[in-house]
Amino acid sequence: MAEPAIEDHYSEDRTFPPPDGFVADALVRDRSLYEEADADPEAFWARQARELLTWRSDFDTTLEWDLPFAKWFVGGTLNVAENCVDRHVEAGRGDKVAIHWEGEPGDTRTITYADLLDEVCRFANVLKGLGVEKGDRVAIYMPMIPELPVAMLACARLGAAHSVIFGGFSPDSITDRVNDAEAKVVVTADAGYRRGVASMLKPNVDLALASTPSVEHVVVVNRCDTEVHMEEGRDHWWHRLMADASPDCPAEPMDSEQLLYLLYTSGTTAKPKGIMHTTGGYLTQVAFTHKYVFDLHPDTDVYWCAADVGWVTGHSYIVYGPLANGATQVMYEGTPDTPGRDRLWSIVEKYGVTQLYTAPTAIRTFMKWGVEEPEKHDLSSLRLLGTVGEPINPEAWMWYHRHIGGERCPIVDTWWQTETGAMMITSLPGVVTTKPGSATFPLPGIGVEVVDDAGNPVERGGGYLTLTRPWPSMLRGIWGDPERYRDTYWSRFDGRYFAGDGAKIDDDGYFWLLGRVDDVMNISGHRISTTEVESALVAHESVAEAAVVGATDPTTGQAIIAYVILRGNVEPTPEHGELLRQHVAQQIGPIARPKTVILVPDLPKTRSGKIMRRLLRDVAEGRDLGDTTTLADPHVFDEINARAADAPSGED
Ligand code: PRX
Repeated sequence: MAEPAIEDHYSEDRTFPPPDGFVADALVRDRSLYEEADADPEAFWARQARELLTWRSDFDTTLEWDLPFAKWFVGGTLNVAENCVDRHVEAGRGDKVAIHWEGEPGDTRTITYADLLDEVCRFANVLKGLGVEKGDRVAIYMPMIPELPVAMLACARLGAAHSVIFGGFSPDSITDRVNDAEAKVVVTADAGYRRGVASMLKPNVDLALASTPSVEHVVVVNRCDTEVHMEEGRDHWWHRLMADASPDCPAEPMDSEQLLYLLYTSGTTAKPKGIMHTTGGYLTQVAFTHKYVFDLHPDTDVYWCAADVGWVTGHSYIVYGPLANGATQVMYEGTPDTPGRDRLWSIVEKYGVTQLYTAPTAIRTFMKWGVEEPEKHDLSSLRLLGTVGEPINPEAWMWYHRHIGGERCPIVDTWWQTETGAMMITSLPGVVTTKPGSATFPLPGIGVEVVDDAGNPVERGGGYLTLTRPWPSMLRGIWGDPERYRDTYWSRFDGRYFAGDGAKIDDDGYFWLLGRVDDVMNISGHRISTTEVESALVAHESVAEAAVVGATDPTTGQAIIAYVILRGNVEPTPEHGELLRQHVAQQIGPIARPKTVILVPDLPKTRSGKIMRRLLRDVAEGRDLGDTTTLADPHVFDEINARAADAPSGED
């Protein structure tokens, strides 16, 4: 079937009410949760905490707030692993599948909640045997295999904090993170499968550990049967330790504010920040959002978050949220184009996936690959779709809605951050009418305001996105640096958390995320969002993907530079750049016309799929590229540099 012409341009008026077929069985069909939370947000969260989680001892104070330091559910004790695993088994659901795991080569494992309990207890005992105690840190550098959530839950069971380091990071990045956290143990694997080959991990750990004095032991899963160096006394095979470990490991109750994990994220400086998340508040909000935003029916749903556990999305919506809720989920090891570009759709069909959660950049890649790929498979099991990570352009939203959701699935566009721990702005799918490209409204219990430069709330129009009150899954700080925590998030606007994002509120009160504020350009004194220009470019029938940056310009302050990937079947003419410049001028206005359009074969992306705008700005401004080790393909730049040098600039 030919792809329909894209007639759905950016429009605040295009609305999609919750589909009738969906609403009929939705968990939430009215506004009562919003009303309850508006009336008393703390009481609302206290009720969720008690309803969704199993506490060993109840809390006496819902919130202690000494800006910017919050404590939630003070005096309460619970164990995260017990909430994610034991209680489901105790309730008679031990045979329920927790994880349908699919390896990239096609090997599979079916892990029930009883299996998970056995493995988590054994590995907790392994960690204990290696000297890990409550309060210690454990670094985890692993592929997407079941041992990864097992290792995380084993840490949680003991009250040791994990620091998961994404498998795409370089040895230097591992060293920095391990040293900052002073991790005692590293858990890794020989390798993991990516694009049909064993992508090595253990050699990176070996290089990294040359200068990490805190590390005493390394545990290595044998995933790919490759030859790796095992250092006598330090390195141990996972399967050997597990074979000797007892499956008996009682879960100790932890304080609600016990550190659960650190997750490092880049800020504006070179040094990554160890974002701290704790126990009771974090688990409450991830469980709440996972249940109500994805409308989880745990007995019948097969949920799938196609992210990597190395990022916060995987922590909250592969490990803690779904398991706390007793969900059955799919976990996939590899890339979406192996062995073919229909791999995701074949997995949806095979397991009867009901909810799919992925990123706009992935959706645009699927668009580029063409509708033939999803059309090879029966996707009728899907009943809800989600997106996360960046603003979704309306064209990608419409494509997802039509070609993946069959026009029957609500789309939840979820805005949140590593720092927020869980979703903050998105829709309850049985209640909220969506608009393609808008994350819609703050969730119940969440306070959001858009403010102007001076910090005054803006009722309608654009400004800075701020959070007005503490929320249960908020970061508790930056590891080892409370001042940096205060400065980074709480100093720009008095009494508010500043998220770093620009946003606008439309005439109907919908929130539209405009990207990071440093991605919002200022052209001759006009604020223009890179997202808006990208959206216009992607709306052109010849464009597959676009990234726009504001480069310093002596006349206009900043100038718009657009990097564009054309669709596979388009032969560019010398005038193609000019054509696209005019197209943008037509879509948004002459002020948004890019100065330069650079046609490129690919875009520089982090392994998590985020476009690296900083690098694109550097190319546009002719600067040194610096560290590009987190690029999916470091060679992308050679080509981009060559084309940038050739591209003609517009005269006006
Ligand atoms: O700019 C926002 C964007 O991603 C940033 C957070 O990135 P990170 O901490 O890596 O977490 C990503 C996964 C939660 C935000 O400051 N962002 C995330 N989700 C959206 C988004 N921008 C627009 N719409 C979203 N749905």
